[in-house]
Amino acid sequence: MSIRQEKITFFERYLMDFFQKAGRVELPWRKKGITPYKVWVSEIMLQQTQVSRVIGYYTKLLKRFPTVKTLAKASWEEFLPYYQGLGYYARGRNMLLAAQLIVTEYGGAFPRNHATLQLIPGIGPYTASAIMSFAYGDKHLAWDTNLKRVVGRFFFGSKKAVINERYFETKFTTPRKKLNAALMDFGSALCTARPKCEACPLQSRCVYYQERGKRELLPKKTRAVSIKEHDEVQTVVTLHEKHRLYFSSKEKVYTPFTLPSGYITRADIKAYFEKKYNLILAVRPPHELLIQESV
Ligand code: ADE
Repeated sequence: MSIRQEKITFFERYLMDFFQKAGRVELPWRKKGITPYKVWVSEIMLQQTQVSRVIGYYTKLLKRFPTVKTLAKASWEEFLPYYQGLGYYARGRNMLLAAQLIVTEYGGAFPRNHATLQLIPGIGPYTASAIMSFAYGDKHLAWDTNLKRVVGRFFFGSKKAVINERYFETKFTTPRKKLNAALMDFGSALCTARPKCEACPLQSRCVYYQERGKRELLPKKTRAVSIKEHDEVQTVVTLHEKHRLYFSSKEKVYTPFTLPSGYITRADIKAYFEKKYNLILAVRPPHELLIQESV
């Protein structure tokens, strides 16, 4: 993979402009002097709950258990009131177990090593990267679906290119705490699942934005489904003539035809349309079974 350094610099520059103006710098886990323990607490909580709800839980838990050692001493009954409401009790139990392990195995300090961190229950590559970057300022990028979406769209568009994570980790120059936070905020404010491209300061060089004309011409995303022979299904059919003239089941508005269940053979389907709509069709077998999925 090779991307022009000038394009990477553009990306970082405009991302930082965005972060300067709209970054969520007030989040309690973005304060100066953050410890690996505090990053870990925030990341575990953020895995299951929205940022706005986590703030209260995070603040109260850290007030009662300010270090991993204090947490490791807590019983489940002592810990539960600070976690109750976040759901997923397995994660809560893991959190307590992890705190105990860090004290017994690692002398009460989170290991400063990406691979070793992942030996701790509940810590995967993403959380390990978040700890390494937010707490230690190391070069890791916290690759979750949001980061992959933001970087993927800008540099590769809607192509399902496999992002070479290491490549970007060596090419980006912004300090990681800032870069990870900016990418997260950008992914949650602008480059969302339904992106707000019109408001995006990176628009002019974004491959995904450049593809927009092409995208509008594409049919909606489809997903293959398997229908068993004995299933009773209704089918929605779009009829066209050489992809130019489309027919509707309603005269004035465009509505696809709904074929009731039970019409299986080509002859059946042909007869159904002839009788009901006075349309003579050539019915061809489908290439594959597809169902419309709203994007
Ligand atoms: N800052 C650090 N980690 C975060 C996360 N997972 N979501 C939002 N902001 C964060």
